Amino acid sequence: MERLRTVREIRQALESARKSDKSIGLVPTMGALHAGHEALIQRARDGADVVVVSIFVNPLQFGPKEDYGKYPRALPKDLEICERSGADLVFVPPLEEIYPLPQLTVVDVTRVSEHLCGASRPGHFRGVATVVLKLFHIVQPDRAWFGEKDFQQLAVIRRMVADLNLPIGIIGVPTVRESDGLALSSRNEYLSPVERKAAPVLYRALQEAAKRVRSGEREAGKIREAAIAILSTEPLVRVEYLEIVDPDDIQPVSTVSGRVRIAAAMRIGSTRLIDNVEAGG
Ligand code: PAJ
Repeated sequence: MERLRTVREIRQALESARKSDKSIGLVPTMGALHAGHEALIQRARDGADVVVVSIFVNPLQFGPKEDYGKYPRALPKDLEICERSGADLVFVPPLEEIYPLPQLTVVDVTRVSEHLCGASRPGHFRGVATVVLKLFHIVQPDRAWFGEKDFQQLAVIRRMVADLNLPIGIIGVPTVRESDGLALSSRNEYLSPVERKAAPVLYRALQEAAKRVRSGEREAGKIREAAIAILSTEPLVRVEYLEIVDPDDIQPVSTVSGRVRIAAAMRIGSTRLIDNVEAGG
């Protein structure tokens, strides 16, 4: 496995692969890797000849009051995880390599970015889409892997690829969870032991919502109520949103007809956690 820091280096490293018609796979990450990221890298290993993992904490997708400064950074361990999950190249650019100039050109995937995290984190998906498009141009992968854990992000990327005619296959990977249901996240590190114990309530609430859909409930209002009631049993939790949305354009639905995604964000102490499940269809 090779570690590269500059755009020039990564392009050079990929030159021979491209010439010999090998397929290139990309797994974009912000580091602090865990078993969720590992699942993506392993899937990429099976689906491409050359697997590139990028590790870059992207300031453009953090709001001014968010955790960019304290976002966990753990490069030595990240490199070990990349190695053992089968990455060929790890691209770890310094900030000035990705943003040598103030970034004046941005990508806004409207509508898909409107609700859920788009509403509570203004500018977040603009930052995500912009950096992912830059990574796509730098690496020029045939395929890229993203987690369903960040379901709205996956929808934003899919739509960007469709709208801009990018010749890249986007593959979604199911959420990897702890045994108590908590979705793995780099931000779980922020939780105190008491908060960690309370955190699985998020997945329990989403499962309850999905169960209501399975038993025939179609009114989004009622399904939301049932899920929010479960979140309310945890005094440490503040609900940010819990919505039932169309899985493609992430618009809230009032009646469930066909496949939907149930997505929620909550704060527990100062940590923000998100999760989602599929239902209906
Ligand atoms: P990051 O949060 O590091 O996540 C990198 C990838 O891992 C994303 O596609 C995310 O959905 C996936 N992932 C995270 N937790 C997961 C889990 N428990 N199960 C399955 N997949 C999981 O998402 C980002 O970074 C950034 O926004 C990025 C796309 C790299 C752009 O900066």
